[in-house]
Amino acid sequence: MILRHFASAGLLSTVGVVTGCSGIQSALDPAGAEADAIAKLFWVLVAVGTIIWLGVSGILLYGVRSGRRPITEAAASSLILWGGVFTAATLVVLLGFALWLMPSLRPFAGEAGTSLRIEITGRQYWWRVVYHVPGYPALISANEVRLPVGERVELTLHSDDVIHSFWIPALGGKMDMIPGRENRLSLLATKPGTFRGPCAEFCGTSHALMAFSAVAMESKDFHAWLASRVKPSPGATAGAAGLFLRHGCGSCHTVAGTEAAGTLGPDLSHLGSRLTLGAGILPNTAENIARFITEPDKIKPGVEMPAFGMLPPDDIRAIAAWLKGLE
Ligand code: CUA
Repeated sequence: MILRHFASAGLLSTVGVVTGCSGIQSALDPAGAEADAIAKLFWVLVAVGTIIWLGVSGILLYGVRSGRRPITEAAASSLILWGGVFTAATLVVLLGFALWLMPSLRPFAGEAGTSLRIEITGRQYWWRVVYHVPGYPALISANEVRLPVGERVELTLHSDDVIHSFWIPALGGKMDMIPGRENRLSLLATKPGTFRGPCAEFCGTSHALMAFSAVAMESKDFHAWLASRVKPSPGATAGAAGLFLRHGCGSCHTVAGTEAAGTLGPDLSHLGSRLTLGAGILPNTAENIARFITEPDKIKPGVEMPAFGMLPPDDIRAIAAWLKGLE
């Protein structure tokens, strides 16, 4: 009976471990050079730990089963001495390996000769994203980070309120975003794909609802995408642009091509083409945009955006449809 429980617990944990290794938010399914080094370190530690565990278990079983009489004091002393030497030597070798990996975990982008810089600012509970690319004006976006495969990117990380932590597990290690300070992180995506980045530092009631999408694109697709961001969305001046302005949304949000130029909230210039809504928490649909306008605090407790449920439902629907059309 107990054995059967052990077997099912073992099976469950194996399934858990194996399924936990893949997916859009896994450090063990690397798609970037830095994440690759971290995964390598992880598996080496697991392998060495497993070998030692098997060895110690073997010695323990031998000691229990063999029924030998107590060993001499001299033998016990030398066992303790050599056991200590072995432990220290193993730890020193593993530490050396980790230190040897370290330069590849935190390369300085400036030294790597990159020209693409993305400035990311953490806010309760979203991310401002500004692309600085030679030949383009500064391109402002939010809650989505796009980067080219095979090109090193430098990220400069800030916070406007409390400490957040920026992390794309599939691409590299995490880095804190600290008010009044600029931290730098460098990433090199090696495979195209869409990944998820969570905020990795408790930052308030909606910390668990602060995420973003990270999209690694083939270099030519990335540059085509950048070029398409320079111009305002074709739909910006049509549709419910007037309603958006009349209800005051433009005092917090920017929509390029209109008079809306607020900077307190996320830039909405190309909102319709983003993968998610509300910083990684909802599918980007017109219905969800309408819900967010109506009751943002129900979807994201503690959010700074006031609820606009008092607006006429037709206006909310029209604004949501217009925003969804901003591609
Ligand atoms: Cu931002 Cu947790």
